Amino acid sequence: MTKKNSKRALSAVAIAGLGLSVLAIGASTGATASPETQVVISSATYQQAVAAAAAPGSPKVTVVATGGTLAGKATGRDTFGSYRAGTYLMTDLLDQLRPELDGVAAVDSVQFGNGGSSSYTIEKYRELTLAVEEALKTSDGVVVTTGTDTMEEFAYWLDLTVQSKKPVVITGAMRPWAAGATASEQPVIGTDGPANLYNAVKLAAGQQTYCFGTVLMLNDEIHAAREVRKTNTTRMDTFGSPSNGPLGYIDEGATVLNHAPARVAKCDGDAWATPFDVSTITPADLPKVEIAYAYQEASGSMIEGLVGDGATGIVTMGTGAGGLSGTMGAARTAAVGNGVWFVSTTRTGTGNVTGSGNGIIAGGDLQGTKARLLLLLSRAFTDDIAQAKTWFTTIGNPPATYVPGEVVEPEPETPEPTVTGTSATKLKVAKPVKVGRKITATVTVTGAEKVVPTGKVTFRINGSTVKTVSLWSAKKGVLRVTLPKQKKPGKIGVEAYFTPAATSTLAPSNGITWVNVKRR
Ligand code: SIN
Repeated sequence: MTKKNSKRALSAVAIAGLGLSVLAIGASTGATASPETQVVISSATYQQAVAAAAAPGSPKVTVVATGGTLAGKATGRDTFGSYRAGTYLMTDLLDQLRPELDGVAAVDSVQFGNGGSSSYTIEKYRELTLAVEEALKTSDGVVVTTGTDTMEEFAYWLDLTVQSKKPVVITGAMRPWAAGATASEQPVIGTDGPANLYNAVKLAAGQQTYCFGTVLMLNDEIHAAREVRKTNTTRMDTFGSPSNGPLGYIDEGATVLNHAPARVAKCDGDAWATPFDVSTITPADLPKVEIAYAYQEASGSMIEGLVGDGATGIVTMGTGAGGLSGTMGAARTAAVGNGVWFVSTTRTGTGNVTGSGNGIIAGGDLQGTKARLLLLLSRAFTDDIAQAKTWFTTIGNPPATYVPGEVVEPEPETPEPTVTGTSATKLKVAKPVKVGRKITATVTVTGAEKVVPTGKVTFRINGSTVKTVSLWSAKKGVLRVTLPKQKKPGKIGVEAYFTPAATSTLAPSNGITWVNVKRR
């Protein structure tokens, strides 16, 4: 662990199967959390997502398949390196995992493509984001399968662009699936594809990475999209997160998370999403952004050529903390004069680049290939380089990991008087509940006939307070409220809390009433 990281708090969430046996370890203090510390990630939205996954009824997971070695057909059962990537269809691959897979989730698939990872353009990346968003309208999580060569770029692109908080898990394989005419025939000896695909579905279904953005799951390890990189051409443990290590791992029934991306801290609010909603731009808005690699006496003609070819942004992967040869530096200065934006990164693989300046954004410790994607999106979404510089700090270089915070319950504005004989029970939500239509909920107030009801009921949807109503407004013992319309279909958790809480008996099924919001 680096010096920088050792200062950071580390948390561990061990979730046995899809259940909720959660263990938290505060490694910054060396203290082991008590078993009562049921949740490390304090977001109510996060907790509800995980709890919902453990509730009866299968979560739904969609696999969006793009190809790669996972879907590869080998020339022989003992051949790992000679194969045609992107051959078998995802429906065929998923069938090989049944019936066990059916016990994990209701899984369907979208065959987005079936090629090598390097064959995908940025325009296709945009379409992939839209396909993932579409799937997440009805599914609880999405698994994206790709080739491993550029999987880290797929992952970071999705991390930057998918607006849904639901889990997106990317996976693939280092060895082809089979050597037969179909995926069921002649399985390749020791192939990693089936286990990776199975674990990825398990992770998406379990919701443990809700609000994490996109994570990469391969070789039993879970990695943050921002951190992960392919480190070896052939080994099955090729993916690593050199600066911070993997987020966690899947050991058969146990999914263990040692830390989480910093964005989890924003899980309860709208600030969680990035500004890069690609449904608001067209393919023509996607600029040409390239990478120039530095080395001894590197020529400036590389930058000149890229600019001549229409690049409006260039990431330099410099030596050490961002160094360029004299001719490369001169070419960059000239290009800045022509309005090209640069991001300075390092070819070392880890470590910070802090130098910024006129037309130059500091890449921090973002890898060059990922800085290129953030620069591309920045150019697509703003003409203001100051804004782009901010995004490279807030989005490109957030704190490395989430630090668990305390759950802060808002204090009531005025202390509530103690009330005896009055409580609120039985939350009911009128059905059917449809997208864009008002939601009516009722709460029965007992004791209202004998004493003047005092207190209030707070309604929450998916952990966020949406309405607080005084019990004065109850009529004939029934409090009837209209809750905010829902924009998207899916399962929502509605809760009602009576204050003062001591007399509340609102606790049917963990206090949450699960409601399916249907399409209109
Ligand atoms: C590819 O990236 O498409 C080929 C290599 C792989 O999937 O492992």
